[in-house]
Amino acid sequence: MRETIRQLWPEIDWIDDFQLREQVTETWVRALERSPLTAEDLNRIPFTLLVPDCPITFMEHKRCVVHIAHDSAQAMQEFMGRALPVNIDTVIAGAILADVGKLLEYELGPDGKSRQSERGEALRHPFTGVALALECGVPDAVCHVIATHALEGDLVKRTTEAFIVHHADFMAFLPFKNPRNIKLKP
Ligand SMILES: [Fe+2]
Repeated sequence: MRETIRQLWPEIDWIDDFQLREQVTETWVRALERSPLTAEDLNRIPFTLLVPDCPITFMEHKRCVVHIAHDSAQAMQEFMGRALPVNIDTVIAGAILADVGKLLEYELGPDGKSRQSERGEALRHPFTGVALALECGVPDAVCHVIATHALEGDLVKRTTEAFIVHHADFMAFLPFKNPRNIKLKP
């Protein structure tokens, strides 16, 4: 199972702290063990149920968000780190774990398509994601990123790391959710 996680998430190796790397890996192992979805499903199902016929897979979206968040965190550290320190490990781990709870939120319908399960309706993935991560010893600063990355987080004062992951996630989602409806010359 750990090898499967390594293949899904080469970005886990970007995390400097050995212990955090282990905690992130273990969270994904437990999520896959308890999920009706397989690793293959993650490379096939759309990343969101909110966009009809979404062309981007779960893993394509998740990995893109991790890359955006990582690069943004580095730029902020380089130009503004003197006044606004950013913990890069927390950003990477938070971005990798932000949607891990979707493995407990989704199920496969009889048509093979993903849909929200009854549990998922009651407990969206920020909640199940935090539950899984805490079980694996993931620190509060990273759990905060998971908890606040989506709309629920608008009610919470986000840390800098949580802002970065939240915006990375939404910039890779909103153009699909709300495509432009006016014609602009390129
Ligand atoms: Fe999410």
